[in-house]
Amino acid sequence: MDNENTTGERAPRLTVIGTGYLGATHAVCMAVQGYEVLGVDVDQSKIDRLASGEVPFFEPGLPELLTKALESGRLRFTTSFAEAAEFGDVHFICVGTPQMKGSHAADVSYVHSATRELAGHLRRRALVVGKSTVPVGTAAELADMIVTTAPAGAEIELAWNPEFLREGFAVDDTMKPDRLVFGVASPWAEERLRAAFAPMIAQGSPVVVTDRTTAELVKVAANSFLATKISYINAMAEVCEATGADVHDLASALSYDSRIGGKFLKPGLGFGGGCLPKDIRAFAHRAGELGVGQAVAFLREVDAINQRRRARTVDLVRELAGGDLTGVRVAALGAAFKPNSDDIRDAPALDVASTLHKSGAKVCVFDPAALENARRLHPELEYGENALETARDADVVVLLTEWSEFREIAPEAMGAVVAHRRIVDGRHALDPQEWRAAGWEYRALGRP
Ligand code: UDX
Repeated sequence: MDNENTTGERAPRLTVIGTGYLGATHAVCMAVQGYEVLGVDVDQSKIDRLASGEVPFFEPGLPELLTKALESGRLRFTTSFAEAAEFGDVHFICVGTPQMKGSHAADVSYVHSATRELAGHLRRRALVVGKSTVPVGTAAELADMIVTTAPAGAEIELAWNPEFLREGFAVDDTMKPDRLVFGVASPWAEERLRAAFAPMIAQGSPVVVTDRTTAELVKVAANSFLATKISYINAMAEVCEATGADVHDLASALSYDSRIGGKFLKPGLGFGGGCLPKDIRAFAHRAGELGVGQAVAFLREVDAINQRRRARTVDLVRELAGGDLTGVRVAALGAAFKPNSDDIRDAPALDVASTLHKSGAKVCVFDPAALENARRLHPELEYGENALETARDADVVVLLTEWSEFREIAPEAMGAVVAHRRIVDGRHALDPQEWRAAGWEYRALGRP
């Protein structure tokens, strides 16, 4: 993209405040798309790593694009909010909103502090765009605060533009979003956002223009729907377990109904990560504050079903081990909350590994990308070098994250190293017939 649009205006200069998962990806992709971008963070070491070309987390394709963006000269990083305010026409707020300690609410303090810090330096007309996932109503509070804090006052506007990126597909989801949601309070804000996303709009991403409150809600509504879909099929798995039916075949049959579809209908150990679990809790909490807690009370059930899958996986390992986990050697394949990620936030895999350990088992964990993170959080567990080494002398193997290298393990090869051929497939990732034919006792959630 050249630096002028069709009406001869300069493309907006962008800043991205917060260079975690969302922010770093957004900053890199926007620079690759041709924008001048300044990434901002309070963490000097993160800024130094990014500026030297190192992505501080695992995301396929992003390191190559960071190199390309830095070489283009369009992407820089800083810790100075004054520099950001001076530089940017459109400022994206991409800081985290983790679950608050001791509560289901989201902690929005980083969003408030980052926005306030930026606003204090804004001296000319600019658009501030919230991307973080926030409790509905946050944008209205921030908009008031910006006008009273910024030297440019009412010249500064706030818009909301939720982000739907999935870890592991972050680059694609940012470059070719399924949809763009622009929550705006004026035609000017819409025009600025259209200018900031011109390449994505030109290649066909649909745009939904709405108010800021609706835009905030779209994000939590989408994640709640996805979580509900996963827990729905996992609830069916519980029924299957009580009846001898097979949830794998059930899901497959449901998926052919185009009104239902097969995506997010994969039964197993359930959802984790930095988004779905905390977003449904924060949404239920916020709805309660708004007096409409009943409307989303089902989200607590969605959460409970999801947690029960973890407990049931531990039960399956115990059953295969003969009813007692004391001293049982368990090989746990997977630690990340999903494959192609090193993220262990609320990871079902590590939760199961840790519960097995607390129940007396000797647990050895392997994950292709998340070992370092897992070791830091759970130093009490043992860690292996690779899948087969981890499985050596195991009494039970449990597959917890469906990395493709685990799917490809040959039952005979693993059978040759274990003490007993017993496997719990927590992700329905393996072919039961093949494993049983090789002499394995195979168990999976919701399958006979
Ligand atoms: C999610 C949303 O998909 C994304 O749009 C939003 O912006 C952030 O939250 P992410 O957390 O990266 O993205 O992971 P996602 O791919 O959605 O998977 C979430 C969890 O659900 C994983 O633990 C995964 O293993 C689990 N899952 C997913 C299932 O158990 N079954 C499925 O059918 C699909």
